[in-house]
Amino acid sequence: MTNSGTGPMAGKTVLVTGGTSGIGKATAAGLAALGARVAITGRDPVRTRDAAADIAAAVGNPAVDPFAADMSSQAAVRRLAKEILDAYPRLDVLVNNAGGFWTTRRVTADGLEQTFAVNHLGVFLLTNLLLDRLKASAPARIVTVASAAHGGARINFDDPQGEQGYSAQRAYARSKLANVMFTYELARRLDGTGVSATTLHPGGVRTGIGAEDSGLLFKLAFTLARPFLKTPEQGAATSIYLASAPAVEDGTGQYFVNSKPKASSKPSYDEATAARLWQISADLVGLA
Ligand SMILES: NC(=O)c1ccc[n+]([C@@H]2O[C@H](COP(=O)([O-])OP(=O)(O)OC[C@H]3O[C@@H](n4cnc5c(N)ncnc54)[C@H](OP(=O)(O)O)[C@@H]3O)[C@@H](O)[C@H]2O)c1
Repeated sequence: MTNSGTGPMAGKTVLVTGGTSGIGKATAAGLAALGARVAITGRDPVRTRDAAADIAAAVGNPAVDPFAADMSSQAAVRRLAKEILDAYPRLDVLVNNAGGFWTTRRVTADGLEQTFAVNHLGVFLLTNLLLDRLKASAPARIVTVASAAHGGARINFDDPQGEQGYSAQRAYARSKLANVMFTYELARRLDGTGVSATTLHPGGVRTGIGAEDSGLLFKLAFTLARPFLKTPEQGAATSIYLASAPAVEDGTGQYFVNSKPKASSKPSYDEATAARLWQISADLVGLA
């Protein structure tokens, strides 16, 4: 497939996971408006196709391609990676955006707790499966949407699946800490390859997050916070910046808020924990 856009991202191919709504849809639209060919993913084929058509029409760039994949399933992530590799000879930017918050503990088809499986393991597996193509397309970028919610969290190696007691807040916070630690470890491993790895907090954003399975507490907090939340377009600004701005080329291994580098939590810089998390994740997704 060729790129048909014009603008500063013309000729670039970008994959935005979770591009059907919220921050991901606004990110995909922003990058398509800059002229990139943008692939988006979502679970439902019709909803994903409709979102791609919406974005293409809204920004006047027809190069928006839908891919359906449920990131909670490792088989689906592997299928998605193959479809992307078959469709695009080069991949300049991967935006790991898909994620969610589930009030009740859910178990995926692979027997894993859903928050950890989608928010972290899906990101880990997809990124690793696309890594050679990103390296071959260098300079390339991997942008992972984390959250300030990682702040109070610690990775719990004794109970990564929340089997001994599930708290949605804790599971979400740990998955977002995993996003940050994964990015730092990835940046170390990618040193010298021309592929950068950055992560970010988008802000509190008015999206569909949690709507699928929101408890009373989540609903109440979201309703009260609503007037103070960013729009999806405002929430996408840092993702778009990290995916496209020339200044970011040297920003690898950093966490960004409002398009500026910011310190993440103290535990997130623990390299031994990051290396252990990498190994456990590789085992859980069956990567050597
Ligand atoms: N909203 C906030 O205030 C906030 C704050 C900090 C961080 N974040 C992060 O921002 C990212 C985007 O969230 P959002 O707020 O924009 O929420 P959203 O509106 O609910 O969008 C989530 C996106 O992820 C996709 N998705 C969810 N579960 C999936 C799965 N199992 N497989 C594949 N795709 C899946 C959804 O696609 P389908 O439903 O179409 O499958 C949708 O496109 C998440 O990583 C979230 O943790 C959000």
